[in-house]
Amino acid sequence: SQNWVVMVTAQTPTNIAVIKYWGKRDETLILPVNDSISVTLDPAHLCTTTTVAVSPTFHQDRMWLNGKEISLSGGRFQNCLREIRTRACDVEDEKRGIKIKKEDWSKLHVHIASYNNFPTAAGLASSAAGFACLAYALGKLMNVKEDESQLSAIARQGSGSACRSLFGGFVKWVMGKEDNGSDSLAVQLADEKHWDDLVIVIAVVSSRQKETSSTSGMRESVETSLLLQHRAKEIVPKRILQMEEAIKNRDFASFSRLACADSNQFHAVCLDTSPPIFYMNDTSHRIISIAEKWNRSEEAPQVAYTFDAGPNAVLIARDRKAATLLVQRLLYYFPPNSDDLDSYIIGDKSIAKD
Ligand code: PMV
Repeated sequence: SQNWVVMVTAQTPTNIAVIKYWGKRDETLILPVNDSISVTLDPAHLCTTTTVAVSPTFHQDRMWLNGKEISLSGGRFQNCLREIRTRACDVEDEKRGIKIKKEDWSKLHVHIASYNNFPTAAGLASSAAGFACLAYALGKLMNVKEDESQLSAIARQGSGSACRSLFGGFVKWVMGKEDNGSDSLAVQLADEKHWDDLVIVIAVVSSRQKETSSTSGMRESVETSLLLQHRAKEIVPKRILQMEEAIKNRDFASFSRLACADSNQFHAVCLDTSPPIFYMNDTSHRIISIAEKWNRSEEAPQVAYTFDAGPNAVLIARDRKAATLLVQRLLYYFPPNSDDLDSYIIGDKSIAKD
């Protein structure tokens, strides 16, 4: 019969960079101007769930995001689909008598349904979880034999930061040297159990969509910011080594200092772009002041903050006690009925796959 459907569902958490990726040296392949390091979040709080299905009754590739059909015609989807299809292998479901041959995959179409359990494109790296999940789910469906790092290089071509969501724990995206991008992929630095004291609190300053997409923002920064050139060549390479060391030693003081400095430098690059890009707002700035003041009033730093291409604060507390105190402080400055914050998301870091 030609009426069968084969489906795979995968769940992938988002990741938050503590050493930022900002700027591409190749826009089509999505190759960055510097290495970056991230922490993968707990899938219970910020994740994408994607179901991919194949059937001879499907006449074209189609995709739904949060229940609404979206176009797959963009180069990024096409690149991911093509890369996975070229690596597809035979698939056999003996019980149901279904056999898909390697060469059939180029003729078969897929349907993709993806859900985010958090605001899409509000600077919470929704595309990171999305493309990582897409690459992983399609890879499973088509019985692709590549490992997570090789899959990460495919997810990268959907959204740069997506390559880091193929692993849990702490992850480095190695920028690579090759022009074809074959060595621009993610590697795991430490798994989710390595530093499980950390607690992540996200203050959702605004769940609205951001105004400047990361793609156009990066392009403008690469074209106009001298600070970006200096950062990529002189600052980030050293910071990456220091951050790796801080993670290895669970050295929260260094971790916090580096993460905050790198977030602030990324937003400085945005200001140094012409015309300047403002991702943070007054509430973001107030949260930075609250965290800085608190860290300075204690013997050792209690919290790290980092902001992506939007106003939302990702706060990383050194342990559960610090997280409780942090939330108390935030609630004091931003009471539940205040207009300045939309919501809080509180969770551990770490990850599960499949
Ligand atoms: O992968 P993109 O295009 O969504 O870019 C993400 C850029 C930042 O989130 C600002 C930094 C990062 O390293 O994730």
